Amino acid sequence: MGEHSGRVAIVTGGAKGIGGAIADRLAAAGAAIAVFDVDDQAAQARVEALRESGVPAHAWHVDVSSRSDVEAAVDAAEQELGPAHILVNNAGMIVFGSLLDCKDEDWDRMLAVDLFGVFVCTQTVGRRMVANGIKGAIVNIGSTASMKPAPQQFAYCVAKAGVKMVSDFAAAELIEHGIRSNTVAPMGAVTDINRELLADPAVMRALEAALPSGRLATADEIAAAAVWLCSDDAAYVSGATILHDAAALTHAIWWR
Ligand SMILES: NC(=O)c1ccc[n+]([C@@H]2O[C@H](COP(=O)([O-])OP(=O)(O)OC[C@H]3O[C@@H](n4cnc5c(N)ncnc54)[C@H](O)[C@@H]3O)[C@@H](O)[C@H]2O)c1
Repeated sequence: MGEHSGRVAIVTGGAKGIGGAIADRLAAAGAAIAVFDVDDQAAQARVEALRESGVPAHAWHVDVSSRSDVEAAVDAAEQELGPAHILVNNAGMIVFGSLLDCKDEDWDRMLAVDLFGVFVCTQTVGRRMVANGIKGAIVNIGSTASMKPAPQQFAYCVAKAGVKMVSDFAAAELIEHGIRSNTVAPMGAVTDINRELLADPAVMRALEAALPSGRLATADEIAAAAVWLCSDDAAYVSGATILHDAAALTHAIWWR
């Protein structure tokens, strides 16, 4: 019996990577898990592993950039598992490129998945939380790119800056209903989003040398911060952003 026993958590992009680690940690704290993801195979594997350990879990094929996908899955999850107490907006992808080279279709796709997806999930689940009288917790996975431009990540930085504002806005608007909203802004961990890029030892060495801690985080370390924000220990925390970067942004310039 964990603190989330009897609660339902929706984790977008919960099939693998950081979202997978968040789903596992929330399940360990007692929550039933709804995975919304486009990777059906990985999502199915995740929920089967959770079910084997006795956790109620179900996966829905959801492209978070589709309002109809999101609304249908929120309905289905409520019927199958019960109303959501926790929403983790984690699903994301990246199209690399500079401002000068950014194509309209790359901009559109990045903002559709990484920003509209966060808006539509927050709105759909937020409306249900209010209607159900649930004092829920929403956690949004931003990035250090929410705060600072990163080379070759133009549209991603714009989308992630927007994620922080959706999160802050939800905190301001929903606190009267007892609903909290917070952001985790990770520097990074090796996951499918960057595995190919970081497989080049020279790229990895340069990145580690640039980081004051000398290493990336693990997906589970990022998940720990997100899951703490969902916890009752964080009952008075809303509108916050946890900069999860081992001082990388703080260190910049003066300590170089
Ligand atoms: N890994 C990092 O270094 C890092 C750093 C900062 C922020 N982030 C953010 O963390 C979040 C999780 O990324 P990750 O690193 O675990 O990558 P990942 O690729 O392992 O996981 C992303 C998940 O989102 C799912 N997804 C992608 N597009 C989707 C869509 N349209 N609809 C529904 N699901 C979709 C993928 O199938 C996958 O399960 C993302 O928002 C990412 O931007 C990651």
